[in-house]
Amino acid sequence: MTLSLLFPVGSVRCASRQIGLFGDVAFSRSSRRAGAMRIVATLLVCLTMAAPVHAQRTAPTHAIIPAPQRVDLARTGSFTITDSTPVVIAANAGEEVERIGRRLATMLGPGAPRAPRRIAARAAVPPNAIQLVIDEDNDDAGAEGYQIDVRTGSVRISAREPAGLFYGVQTLRQLLPASVEHRAALSRTLTLPVGKIEDAPRYTWRGAMLDVARHFLPLDDVKRYVDVMALYKLNVLHLHLADDQGWRIEIMSRPNLTRHGGSTQVGGGPGGFYTQAQYTELVEYAQARNVMIVPEIDMPGHTNAALASYPELTCDGVAPPLYTGIRVGFSALCPSKESTYAFVEDIVRELAAITPGPYIHLGGDEVEKLTHTEYLRFIERVERIVRTEGKNMIGWGEIAPANLDPGTLVQHWRSDARASRDSAYLHAERGGMIILSPGNRTYLDMKYDANTILGLRWAGMISVEHAYSWEPATFLARVPERAVIGVEAPLWSETLEKRSDYEFLAFPRLIAIAELGWSQRNKRAWSDFRTRLAEHGPRLQAMGVNFYRSPEIPWK
Ligand code: ACM
Repeated sequence: MTLSLLFPVGSVRCASRQIGLFGDVAFSRSSRRAGAMRIVATLLVCLTMAAPVHAQRTAPTHAIIPAPQRVDLARTGSFTITDSTPVVIAANAGEEVERIGRRLATMLGPGAPRAPRRIAARAAVPPNAIQLVIDEDNDDAGAEGYQIDVRTGSVRISAREPAGLFYGVQTLRQLLPASVEHRAALSRTLTLPVGKIEDAPRYTWRGAMLDVARHFLPLDDVKRYVDVMALYKLNVLHLHLADDQGWRIEIMSRPNLTRHGGSTQVGGGPGGFYTQAQYTELVEYAQARNVMIVPEIDMPGHTNAALASYPELTCDGVAPPLYTGIRVGFSALCPSKESTYAFVEDIVRELAAITPGPYIHLGGDEVEKLTHTEYLRFIERVERIVRTEGKNMIGWGEIAPANLDPGTLVQHWRSDARASRDSAYLHAERGGMIILSPGNRTYLDMKYDANTILGLRWAGMISVEHAYSWEPATFLARVPERAVIGVEAPLWSETLEKRSDYEFLAFPRLIAIAELGWSQRNKRAWSDFRTRLAEHGPRLQAMGVNFYRSPEIPWK
């Protein structure tokens, strides 16, 4: 047991951290002598003055994001990784563990992809190996948690499920230098500090949303987003696949949706769409990184691209022209026509067939063309269609007053004076769960500050600190903590034309939201987060991510 467990609070902890018993071993740059002098000075300070509680948080003990539940890293002792360090899995390990092992082995060594080594249950683990272990009785880990035990002669990552092993490997990756992100790197010797990490997420829903409707984003760019999400343990990618300006997913029974409705975008560019085969490729890519894809077809509003493609969806039977501006609220499916529900059935049936996850998002936001009663009846009817296809519906906050099934999720988003219309608490009262995406904290398309060229400002400007410094459990006064399934950060794309634009607004704020979703409340503090985040600059750069070098962060 290290000092962190023996002395959890107060000035002793201040001293022990500065000494570095479970401190910044992996990232320390100071020489031994300077370190020794610092220890003496720190001891004097810490012995003569009780450290205020907030001061404990200013010097991070590691740079892992999201902050794990428990980290105990020793100052001395390390495990050395060379080109020949084996990654070991059980002889009977499944395909997912094999894949996680292969990716880890490939990351650690230069050159060609490497396979993990399988060993029989009773066989001795080879010396100096990194072992990935599934332990079905490991109830502490839960569905996504893991434990890491680094000794000088072995590393063991254990979890109850492959998702936990995957996350253990992401943490290990963050303990290694950014050079591991370069596939072409030359042979190198890496070290891990001796110690233990125990970790599990706070929330089951840790999401990001991409609006690929206002501007289309090619499949490879979406995969890149998934790559960064996975590093920070985000597990839901919600795709906003249809809006006034474009329809982005192939629907076999309604080919004009993509042929015509997908042919443009904001500003009049050529648009685009994903074939069902491409969507499936993305679903599998994301699954391999523990990310669930949630498809959204927004309705009854935000539907101009559909109305332009199929005139029977409008009340007057006249197709409107395609739309390439950025207004909202002007379009709606006709709620009184059966052809509307036949359309919804076709969409939901085809989407359900290619979506292994349990959710289909049907939007429901910003509807100005229907009466409130028409709107509520519409929502209740489309919810039944989703349930008939064996899925749970998700809708934006406006759907809460409808008579919903408790298995439906309500995604809270409003943060302005109209928030009273977004009565998420009604859904909590019937036993339903809420996803928190408040516009003034999580909307990644809001500008960072007045100098940000990209993005909008209607929900306010959102600095990295503002995105980070709020508490999901108490955010909505009338929604109790047990009704919060998690957090999600949407990125609307009115002003975004290419991958580097998306990344500039998303990173680092999405990383802040990732920590809100994963880390326990008592493990979060802005001063500590910004110091840890500073260490991630070289890694994001090595991954080719166009992140915003916010002046709030002391970047390395
Ligand atoms: C929304 O921002 N209209 C969900």
